[in-house]
Amino acid sequence: MTQVSMTVNGKPVSGEVEGRTLLADYLREDLRLTGTHIGCDTSQCGACVVHVNGKAVKACTMFAAEAEGAEVTTIEGMANPDGSLNTIQQAFQDHHGLQCGFCTPGMVMSAAALLEENPKPTEAEIRDYLEGNICRCTGYHNIVKAIMAASGQDVSAIAAE
Ligand code: FES
Ligand code: FES
Repeated sequence: MTQVSMTVNGKPVSGEVEGRTLLADYLREDLRLTGTHIGCDTSQCGACVVHVNGKAVKACTMFAAEAEGAEVTTIEGMANPDGSLNTIQQAFQDHHGLQCGFCTPGMVMSAAALLEENPKPTEAEIRDYLEGNICRCTGYHNIVKAIMAASGQDVSAIAAE
């Protein structure tokens, strides 16, 4: 077992993990932050995306021990301080960017990372950035629309679907 300490959603946490414990499992099972979903465990679906030191990372591709000392943000840390949905989350709701919701935490975390590095992405740039996030329900259209709206851009040119 290895001792690990990190900051998760602004709070210091520490515990013992096995060397093979994935960050996704540590967040879900040890910290009970089950908003980080596991859809594949093989780095394909993007349901497990969190931010590690400000970068979007698939939490199933990283060992918890590798996050030693890191600043980690999960979907549970994304709401506004008063508990209301943040701009991206609200845009997903307003533009029907989710159906079953399984992919949504990873989509929101990826969208937040995208808008951090590119505050006004084009539709093509959004689609390109979300290449590592799979959604089996929405056909992506309304997710792209939600992210465009969250970036403050006019979505009226994107047809309703
Ligand atoms: S669970 Fe991590 S990419 Fe699918
Ligand atoms: S909303 Fe169901 S997988 Fe995306």
